Amino acid sequence: MVKVAIAGGRGHLGTTMAETLTDDSRHEYIVLSRGAPKNEKEVQVDYDDISAVTAVLEKHEIHTVISTMLVISEPAAKSETNLVKAAAASKFTERFVQSIWGAPAPAEAAAYMPHIPLRQGVQDELRKTNLEWTQVHNGYFMDYYGLPHLKSHLTPPPFAIDVDNKAATIPGSGDDKMVFTYTYDVARFIAEVLTLPKWDEITTIVGDRVTLNEFVQLAEEARGTKFNVVYDDMDKLKKFQTSELPSHASIYPYFPKEKLQYMFAAFGMWVVGGYFNLPEIKAINHKFPNVKPLSVKQMLETSWQNR
Ligand SMILES: NC(=O)c1ccc[n+]([C@@H]2O[C@H](COP(=O)([O-])OP(=O)(O)OC[C@H]3O[C@@H](n4cnc5c(N)ncnc54)[C@H](OP(=O)(O)O)[C@@H]3O)[C@@H](O)[C@H]2O)c1
Repeated sequence: MVKVAIAGGRGHLGTTMAETLTDDSRHEYIVLSRGAPKNEKEVQVDYDDISAVTAVLEKHEIHTVISTMLVISEPAAKSETNLVKAAAASKFTERFVQSIWGAPAPAEAAAYMPHIPLRQGVQDELRKTNLEWTQVHNGYFMDYYGLPHLKSHLTPPPFAIDVDNKAATIPGSGDDKMVFTYTYDVARFIAEVLTLPKWDEITTIVGDRVTLNEFVQLAEEARGTKFNVVYDDMDKLKKFQTSELPSHASIYPYFPKEKLQYMFAAFGMWVVGGYFNLPEIKAINHKFPNVKPLSVKQMLETSWQNR
């Protein structure tokens, strides 16, 4: 049995991870949160108090920390760095999963995406410790394309394809392969990864691999109608501009349009650069053939047929 602490385990991915481990008798877990506990699994922590966090990890004999914190700001990066220090000092803690849960970014992206150097800083801290650690590359979360019908703790907006509104804004030609993985499959694979005798610094999980053109075609088949599709070329993406999808406007009150366009343009450039086309040879799927991840086609059919 592996005793796990899920940091940020109240969040979108963290809740999914906690639910999945609840159903897996091989592991036990607690959730670390800055907030007051809402159930018996949650433990309140102040990441600024490193020795107190170490005491929590030791009290619960935590072997593995899984971070699902959203590390896109300096305070969050400081929290995750302090958690690394606390884990390194804990006599029970041997392993740490850094919160990445996506895809590698090009080296030059550090200049225009501030979260990348922040995450690099956490990695630098991990390298100073004796902890065995990994970061997970799972491509884009598939859930966004089944919402609101797919079981998921994620919330909109979707990138590139708005299945609900039958529209797509495709970066580049649309012929670049991308990996998409359902969050519950990510969690199921992580439950298996906890049992591995050795970890690599990158853990690659492949749910399904399709181009955005193929994805749109599957979505059109599932919905039984053509989508309104536009293509954003590299010149537009390099100016950090993308075409708007109908569902984007609803999130502007708390995620401004310029910020969203900037982020999706960067993701678009990474799609065209092949960064979401994770290496199949590295996929841990081959080690765990018992875990059969949801395909894009299955997800679309389950979520959208007859709607
Ligand atoms: N590949 C993809 O398509 C994709 C999509 C979305 C997200 N992601 C990645 O998945 C991971 C989790 O994202 P998410 O959407 O699940 O995150 P989220 O729900 O927005 O946040 C997760 C948790 O982070 C904690 N947190 C936020 N700010 C913090 C701070 N300053 N210090 C400490 N903890 C802080 C909060 O926990 P408490 O308040 O309880 O402490 C929160 O519940 C991230 O690495 C994100 O980049 C990937």
